[in-house]
Amino acid sequence: MSRRIAVVGSNMVDLISYVTRMPDRGETVEAPDFRMGCGGKGANQAVAAAKLGADVMMVTKVGDDVFADNTIANFRRFGVDTTWVEKVPGTSSGVAPIFVEPSGENSILIIKGANAHLLPADIDRAAADLKRCDLILMQLEVPIETVYHTIDFAKANGIETILNPAPAAPLDPEKVSKVTFFTPNQTELALITGLPVGDEAEAVTAAKSLVARGLRTVVVTLGARGALVVTAESVTRVPPVAVTPKDTTGAGDAFIGSFARFYVESRDVLGSLGKAALYAADSITKPGTQTSYATAEEFAALMAANSPA
Ligand code: RIB
Repeated sequence: MSRRIAVVGSNMVDLISYVTRMPDRGETVEAPDFRMGCGGKGANQAVAAAKLGADVMMVTKVGDDVFADNTIANFRRFGVDTTWVEKVPGTSSGVAPIFVEPSGENSILIIKGANAHLLPADIDRAAADLKRCDLILMQLEVPIETVYHTIDFAKANGIETILNPAPAAPLDPEKVSKVTFFTPNQTELALITGLPVGDEAEAVTAAKSLVARGLRTVVVTLGARGALVVTAESVTRVPPVAVTPKDTTGAGDAFIGSFARFYVESRDVLGSLGKAALYAADSITKPGTQTSYATAEEFAALMAANSPA
C-alpha cells in the first residue's frame, strides 16, 4: 500500500511575468510573456509528490474569491485529498507575483491572504486524518505557531517530518529540533543560524551548529551545486544534475516534494535525494511551477535516460 504524505502549508496563485529585465523604481518596462498558474510552496510540494504517484493530503486555506475553486479543483486533478482545504470568508487567496529573467532566475513576492489563517486549531481538527500519515511536510508560508504545533503533534504521534524553512524567516532552533529533516537553502541557513554561509565549508559549519542543537538531519540545498546532507556522523554531497535553466521557479519545491515521495517509500535518504536532484533539475527546463513537474511515467523515462548504460 502506498505511504501517505500530508502537507501542512500554503497555496498561492502564481502570476508569472517573463521579463527581459527588472524595471528600475518609477520605470515601466514591457515584458514579453505572462502565465498564471497554481503555486505556493506547500501546494507545489504536494503536487510534485502526487504527480509521482504518492497518496497526498493537503491542509491549507483558500480565500472566498475567484481563485479558490480553481485551486481546489487543481489539487483534485492530481488526486490530492482536499478534505482539509477550507475557504476563509472575506479573505483573498494567497497570490504570488513572480518575475523570471532570461537567465531563468526568479524574484517572488507573496501575499499570504487566506494562508495566514491556517492556525494550530486547524491541525487539531485534522488530527485523526493526520495520524494516518507516514510523513508530514511543512514550509514557512503559514503562521509559525502552526508550524511549531504541527511539529509537536507529529513528534507526539511518531510521524516523521520535513521542514523546508522557506521563505527565509527567523526560527527557534529548539522548537524545530524535533523534525526528521530540515532543508534550508544557503540564505535560509544563514538567517536561522546567524552564521555566514558564503561557501560550502561555511554551510557545513552552520548546518553542524544546528545538529549540535538537536537537529537530526540537515539537508542544505545549494541550487545548481547540488546539496549537502549533514548529520552528527557525516557530511555527504548530493551531486547536481547539469541542465540549461529556463525557469527556476518552484525547483526547490520539486526537490522537497519528490524527496518526500521517494523517501517515504524507500527510507533511503541518499538514494531519494539523488533522485530528487534529477527531478528538480528537470523542472527548471520547463516554464511554470507545478506545470514543470514530471509525472511518475515521465520521471521513469528520465531515470532510464540518465542511468549509466
Ligand atoms: O517556491 C516557489 C513558490 O513560491 C511559488 O509557486 C510561489 O507561489 C511562492 O510561494
